[in-house]
Amino acid sequence: PLVRVAVDGPSATGKSDSAQQLAQRLGFLYVDSGALFRALALALSSKLLPASNPSAIAAYLTGPENPVPRIQWTFPPGRIMLNGHDVSLAIRTDEITQKASEYAVLPAVREALIGLQRHIGVDDPNVRGVVMDGRDIGTTVFPDADAKLFLDGDVHVRAARRVRQRRQQMAAAGDEKLFDAAALDVVRVAEALAARDYRDRTRPQGALACAPDAVVIDSASVTLTEQVDMMEKAVRS
Ligand code: C5P
Repeated sequence: PLVRVAVDGPSATGKSDSAQQLAQRLGFLYVDSGALFRALALALSSKLLPASNPSAIAAYLTGPENPVPRIQWTFPPGRIMLNGHDVSLAIRTDEITQKASEYAVLPAVREALIGLQRHIGVDDPNVRGVVMDGRDIGTTVFPDADAKLFLDGDVHVRAARRVRQRRQQMAAAGDEKLFDAAALDVVRVAEALAARDYRDRTRPQGALACAPDAVVIDSASVTLTEQVDMMEKAVRS
């Protein structure tokens, strides 16, 4: 069986970046489970199935057109495919971010993705272990994980970091209109993060929670490299 490392925590704690670097250090496969939820959100919204209609979504996800078998994750380099198309950029819009969070509340959506999350890497003889980041990996997806990490941090520090990243992205792209004013306002970004975290923490299934046996790291008080160092130490100990 594969070695499993679970990395959970609220949004904007550097989960993806740090989990990816940790996987590289360990020689493991990295899986961004949020990308799976986002790709499914893209599929559901393109079928005009709103999160307010859970019975239609449940029927679609258990029927012949279930899109989950057509969601594919590849690492490296960390791309997500839907119906054979690379949707890695399309899943990062504010609209899909919001929708993924709303759909993720529905038990039918969580059940549709759990098998995929558990199966990635299993049939690949080159994969020794998997580092997966998400919200309920250490509690629901891999409750028997070999190592569990929970990344937390003050919401305002997380928001400020997200805004700084966006400003850097704008400078790198030479595009001052890449993000709108709301996306660059720390107070509004903090509000949006808090709303998403609240939805993640209060849903009936697969809620964001720290497993009792997880090592907790405060992402707000460390640099990314320090965070990866702490994670590596926890996994190897
Ligand atoms: O991590 P990321 O922000 O990309 O995840 C997008 C959305 O998918 C989150 O807002 C969360 O509600 C949901 N998600 C989840 N369970 C996971 C990963 C993501 O519910 N394991």
